[in-house]
Amino acid sequence: MTATEIPTADDVAVNDNGVAVGRHLLSVAEIGGDAIREILHLTDRFVEIGKRNIPKVPALRGKTVCTLFFEDSTRTRMSFETAAKRLSADITSFSVSSSSVNKGESVRDTIETVQAMGVDAFVVRHRSAGVPWQVTDWVEPHVSVINAGDGWHAHPTQGLLDAYTLLQARAGEAGPDASLDGLHIGLVGDIKHSRVARSDVEIFTALGAKVTLIAPPTLLPPAVETWNVEVSHDFDSMLPQLDVVALLRIQKERMVEALIPSIKEYVDGYGLTPERVSLIRPDVFITHPGPMNRGIEVAVDVLEHHPGALVTRQVTNGVAVRMAVLFLLLGSGVDVT
Ligand code: CP
Repeated sequence: MTATEIPTADDVAVNDNGVAVGRHLLSVAEIGGDAIREILHLTDRFVEIGKRNIPKVPALRGKTVCTLFFEDSTRTRMSFETAAKRLSADITSFSVSSSSVNKGESVRDTIETVQAMGVDAFVVRHRSAGVPWQVTDWVEPHVSVINAGDGWHAHPTQGLLDAYTLLQARAGEAGPDASLDGLHIGLVGDIKHSRVARSDVEIFTALGAKVTLIAPPTLLPPAVETWNVEVSHDFDSMLPQLDVVALLRIQKERMVEALIPSIKEYVDGYGLTPERVSLIRPDVFITHPGPMNRGIEVAVDVLEHHPGALVTRQVTNGVAVRMAVLFLLLGSGVDVT
């Protein structure tokens, strides 16, 4: 299969590279290197479709995708909904703030209630790690579950879109042999509370990149020595060595104790200040998964002035990556070429 063809359902079950893509997408670790490359390569095709005057294909006509968000989101939720619409799927949307969860309904009863209306995929975000795995026990055999972020644990489609964006920025597309070989990526900031960091490390290292976590000791996860990374507490000494500065949000809502002395001291040590940006080579890429705390991990208007800033491109690519994921999991077999 080339990047200019949309695969059929047969290609999805076991594609022509012999890569089986499962029914659910729960973590980067569970899909493995070959399936990661498959999704990224298919994303090339959906990026191209996204540039058309009418960026829509009938591939998932008749399928229904439900976004089930028990935690706030702007990018992930809108991006999945846009992706599903561009694939001609129907969307149902669940928001905890206006649901019967507020009357005491459980996650399981909520899933079973929505499923009874007819659903082919649940896109699930929850503040507790592991909930998307639990949901797989409660859905019917034909229903897919996609993890849209569970607690501090995993955010696989963010990892996929971050990797895709770096591949595209380097080579124009992911290509069939996607590789981040030779790239030194510094993940900077609140690693401890970040599901994005966990998924990014898994995918970046699976694709051959070297990853250094740059954070104060209090914002590193327990057992970091078991991760396939290096660790530094000195952002300034690392800066000249990095090909990618991957910033992470300070997760104030997940900090139950004082892990940094003050915001000012955090900014002094780890913020992307105007002074630090002026030291970053133009060919270095800067990413942030959003939402950004302007004035904390990144100064107010520095990204707009660096040619390697990829934040907007990450958001754009998020739609194509999620189209690829939905298509691979739900592919209807409709040939849309
Ligand atoms: N990056 C990310 O997950 O953003 P949202 O919380 O807005 O979905």
